[in-house]
Amino acid sequence: MLTLALVAAASTGVLYPVSTARAQQSKTSAKKVATKAASKSAKPAAKTTVAAKEQLPDGKQVYSTTCAACHQVTGEGTSGVFPPLAGSEWVNGDEAKVARIILHGLTGPVEVAGETYNGMMPPWGGTLKDADIAAVLTYVRSSWGNKAAPVTAAKVASIRAATSSRAAPWTAAELAGVK
Ligand code: HEC
Repeated sequence: MLTLALVAAASTGVLYPVSTARAQQSKTSAKKVATKAASKSAKPAAKTTVAAKEQLPDGKQVYSTTCAACHQVTGEGTSGVFPPLAGSEWVNGDEAKVARIILHGLTGPVEVAGETYNGMMPPWGGTLKDADIAAVLTYVRSSWGNKAAPVTAAKVASIRAATSSRAAPWTAAELAGVK
């Protein structure tokens, strides 16, 4: 429930300016048509699902549907509310820690790029498969100037197995002791 509320709150914040922009556009109908046509042609062709089983999950896609509402498409987050992934020592650091954050969430004070956050990140272990988590971690670890090694699905699977009794989100203090 909390997860939904947070995501809803975040997406409302994202969607509101869009509808405002649309309302303004409709004042000039010719402009509106032109804008619509332009945005239509700019859309990428729908992906086919043929051989979807063999395809590795697209980390950028997982990011935009699962993480971007809070951490933003730019990975910059929102100062004071959602910490950045760009330039984050957690993202670029030990995969054993960052994978735990995605699997079970994170709560309480955490320092990221020199700023302290004190919020709650929901867990994604129930929603995302090992391969999805590996793909999204590999994506965030190699985007926006980050330069950390890829994460494999096998590694995520072993961390999931090692932490299977974990229910509560992690705290930064607990993760400091994880190797
Ligand atoms: C509902 C909002 C929300 C969503 C969605 C979300 N996070 Fe977070 N995330 C947070 C918050 C809030 C924190 C800080 C928690 C704290 O203060 O203890 C955080 C912390 C983190 C951290 C550690 C700190 C940092 O900035 O490096 C990482 C890594 C992270 N999130 C990655 C992700 C990834 C990857 C996804 C998508 C799979 C994701 N998050 C989805 C809200 C969210």
